[in-house]
Amino acid sequence: MDITTKFSDRVKHLEASAIREIFKLLAKPGIISFAGGAPDPELFPKKEFAELAKEILETQGNTALQYGITEGYAPLREWVKDRLVNQGVLTKEDDVIIGSGGQQGIDLATKSLINPGDGVICEEPSFIGGLNCFRSYNAQLYGVPVLDDGIDTEKLEELLKSHSNIKVLYTISTFQNPSGITISLEKRKKILELAEKYDILIYEDNPYGELRFSGEEVPTLKALDKNSRVIYFGSFSKILAPGMRLGFVSAPAPLLERMIICKQTEDVHTNVLSQMIAYEFVTRNSIDEHIAKLRAAYGKKCRLMMDCMDKYFPAAVKHTCPEGGLFLYCTMPEGYDSKELMKKALERNVAFVPGTSCMIDDKATYSTFRMNYSTASEEDIETGIKTLGEVLHQFMEA
Ligand SMILES: Cc1ncc(COP(=O)(O)O)c(C=O)c1O
Repeated sequence: MDITTKFSDRVKHLEASAIREIFKLLAKPGIISFAGGAPDPELFPKKEFAELAKEILETQGNTALQYGITEGYAPLREWVKDRLVNQGVLTKEDDVIIGSGGQQGIDLATKSLINPGDGVICEEPSFIGGLNCFRSYNAQLYGVPVLDDGIDTEKLEELLKSHSNIKVLYTISTFQNPSGITISLEKRKKILELAEKYDILIYEDNPYGELRFSGEEVPTLKALDKNSRVIYFGSFSKILAPGMRLGFVSAPAPLLERMIICKQTEDVHTNVLSQMIAYEFVTRNSIDEHIAKLRAAYGKKCRLMMDCMDKYFPAAVKHTCPEGGLFLYCTMPEGYDSKELMKKALERNVAFVPGTSCMIDDKATYSTFRMNYSTASEEDIETGIKTLGEVLHQFMEA
């Protein structure tokens, strides 16, 4: 029996990433990888978590190991809500639920809102986990380019004007994955105005917003939203540790109710021990001090990577200048294929993510690539960028 003939319409069109085969080579010894999207494990609060886990299991083990509430561990939910209210992101009337990572929030919202054929506008480039989630619900994806100050709002309006099926705009508004770009305040206001005019919802996915290392804070779309159009997704992955699988969503109450029903059939509730460790950590330690440490570390590595690129890359290769987050995005002149560059770079033991995996049409050729600066050591950043510079010079002269 051929099991593939039984696949659902939701999954049968999903394809393994075009670059998955190339990524298998990342296990090669000696590789310097800028391809990951993970935070620096050296900055995980491992000692504190170990002590807290022991204490929680000894003193609150019955709660930590019992089934939990689908909405999330109440003290952590309250803490997240208070923090977002204090940051001006939410009002006291808003509510949050805890999910298994920000990714689950995106999935639950999409399951609750999107019918096959409904339109979702995504930034191009965008986060593959978001794109694949929308694909798995048979959404129709539309791309809107990301400019230096965020979404091209003229293109956004053209799309909204010409497609009546659009229900959602998906944006990673601050320190975008993969570009590192932050949407300007003016554009945020314009995006909200367009959402109102064309009656769409906005998914604001903000897992990197706390990781600002330069420039000025910009209010979230959620903070500027007057009419409950923004569904806000956050995460502990980049400020604590992704293995904890903790994220949160704020949405209008009737939508949160739907999402909770959906979550009950996915994983019932988020890992209680993780939630309790996170809660005790954030209330006993200064989370802001911890985040300040992360900001300083990532800011230093980002500046080093940009300096090395300016020194070693051909001048025609441009890079974004992020003010936070984990990524920057490079663009070769038009016509060069970053998948081909990736093959050459891997021969020299350096890896990155070709732009193709961040795009709606992942079969086309793109001259862009994503570089992560959080996980490599400073020494590896120097060596890796120097090598990649040599590869780029050869590649572009060939
Ligand atoms: C833009 C974006 N959204 C969501 C996620 C999902 O994060 P998590 O599920 O670990 O909270 C990621 C992870 O890399 C991301 O880059």
